[in-house]
This record gives sequence, C-alpha cells and structure tokens, in this order.
Amino acid sequence: MAFKMSHRKQEIPMRKTRAQIITFANIKGGVGKTTAVTNIAYLLGVEFGKKVLVIDADDQGNATKALGVRDKFDRREETLWAGLSRKLTFEQVMVESAYANIWVIPSTKELKNAQTEFGRSARGLKLFKHLLKGAQEQFDFILIDTKPQVNILLQAALSASDWYLIPSFPEPDSYDGFLDLVSECEEICDEENSDLRCLGVLLSCVKKIPAHDSYIRFIGKHLKQARVLLLKPGIRVSNAVATGSLHSCPAVALPSAHSVKEDYRKLTKAVLKAVELGAKTARPDLPRLGVVKQTIEEGYEEDLKIDDGIQEINLL
Ligand SMILES: Nc1ncnc2c1ncn2[C@@H]1O[C@H](COP(=O)(O)OP(=O)(O)O)[C@@H](O)[C@H]1O
Ligand SMILES: [Mg+2]
Repeated sequence: MAFKMSHRKQEIPMRKTRAQIITFANIKGGVGKTTAVTNIAYLLGVEFGKKVLVIDADDQGNATKALGVRDKFDRREETLWAGLSRKLTFEQVMVESAYANIWVIPSTKELKNAQTEFGRSARGLKLFKHLLKGAQEQFDFILIDTKPQVNILLQAALSASDWYLIPSFPEPDSYDGFLDLVSECEEICDEENSDLRCLGVLLSCVKKIPAHDSYIRFIGKHLKQARVLLLKPGIRVSNAVATGSLHSCPAVALPSAHSVKEDYRKLTKAVLKAVELGAKTARPDLPRLGVVKQTIEEGYEEDLKIDDGIQEINLL
C-alpha cells in the first residue's frame, strides 16, 4: 500500500561544507558493494553523526532493504525511478531510513528501464547531477550503490561524484572487469567530470588463509604501482553479515557484531580522513593495471616469487 508520512520530509539544516559523493562500483557482482555502502552509511550516520543520503541505483534494491525502508515508501512517488523519470528533486523522493541521520532514495524494479529510456539521450549522463541539485549543501555524504554493470545509471552516478570506490574480494576472479571499470571511470573523468577520483579498492570477506594473504600482497604491490590505493583495513569474513541480511539491517547495527564492526569502523575513519583532507590523488595508471590483469591470467605465483621480501604474514 502506498502511503506518505509527512515527518519524513522534515527540513535538514544547510551544511557549511559540501557533501562528498561516493559511487561504489564494480562490474562484478557479489563483491561486497551493498554491504560496504550500508555499513559505512550506518557508521557515518549513527556513530559519527554525519548526514548521509544513500541512493540505491541497483534495481535489486538490496541497499533499500538493508536500511529498513523496503515497505515504508510510496512506490509511485518516493523512488529513484520517479526522481529520474519525472525530474523530481532529491527532497521529493528521499525517505528517512530506520537509522539516525540516514536518508535513502529507494530502488524499484523500474530502474531496469533506465538504459533504454536514457541510455542514448543527452540528458542521460546528467541524471544524477539534476537529481542532486542542492543536496550537497544538506548532507555530509552521499553514497551511491550501483549494479554490477556499465550502464547509464553508473555513468550518471560517476558524472556527479567526487569519488569512486571499488569493493572487491581477495581472489583473482574478483579482478575480472577491474580494468574495464577503471577505464570507464577515467573516461567519465576525462569527458564529464574532471573532479572524479578513485578513492581506492576495498577488500571484503578476507580470511586468514595463505591464499588470501598472497593475493593481498600481490594486489597491494601492483595497485600501488598503478597509483590505486588499497584501502585499509580490509573487512574480515564475518557471520554477522549474513545475520544482518536476514534481519534486513547492516551487520554493524547488530549487538553481536564484533570483528566486522571493528573493521568497518576503522575503514570509515580512513574514508573520512581521505575525503576530509580533500587530497585528490593522482589518477590511475591504466596500462599498469593491464599488466596486473595479464599477470593474473598467466598465474601470478611467479610474480610473488620474484621480489617478495616479506616473510611475515600479518593479515589484519
Ligand atoms: N565481510 C563479509 N563477511 C561475510 N560475508 C560477506 C562479507 N561481505 C559481503 N559478504 C557477503 O557477500 C555477498 C555479496 O555481498 P553484496 O554486498 O551483496 O555484494 P554486491 O553488492 O557487490 O553484489 C553477500 O551474500 C554478503 O552477505
Ligand atoms: Mg549489491
């Protein structure tokens, strides 16, 4: 049933600083994008007192669900689709989440039509810029969750963002599509949004096993050479993430969550520091990222043997 709650459109005070907009992107699915968006949003909003707007640009709606608004919005009016297709403002389509300081622009299945509807139009790449007009003065952070696909929603999100963050798992397969994604982001930077920078790669589901340790050392070394930051800490594998999914809440909101809360808290502080410093990092070296891809495809054991001076394995 569609309904509207007037208190949800309460005034949010104007901020002195502009919100940082971060798009979470990876062409590969199931690599922790939504988990990262919702847990970082929770910590920013509930623990650090920041005003956060989460935009769920994946038609699966997992972020919408995890932030406790799945059945609590007007499906005709308060959706990202309504905002984009009817040129509504962010204020008209955002809803208050179940958590303090966090608002959500919910996803619905109609987002699937975005590519055919806007993919070829000149307006397509400006969709988020238009929707978010004035939003940076009202929030501290705007986090955009995306679908594992290069589509107009991802391109439009990147066109409006200050940063892109790449969630991944510590396995070679997770590198599939990495180069294509970074190339896409850098193309948007060249053509649409010169402010866009890579915030870094976030590894989730990290296990204390030699295979993960080797991969993390390998990828850390190569990403550094390619001027892409490997964000620290990675997020350890945790049962709390599945428990959170079951209860439709971010894992860090659970009293029983320990390691995952510790990791995401440290990571959120690192993100805060990086963006508040405003240190716009150098742009990634794409040919170098291509070499990493090739090395993985050829089997990277040799690479580890050549100049691996590190004896100690110190995962987290
Ligand atoms: N730290 C973690 N520990 C355990 N499971 C995790 C962790 N991070 C993510 N997952 C699980 O991995 C799967 C994919 O995560 P999700 O955030 O939905 O990825 P994406 O949004 O990239 O598709 C989910 O089942 C999620 O519960
Ligand atoms: Mg997702």
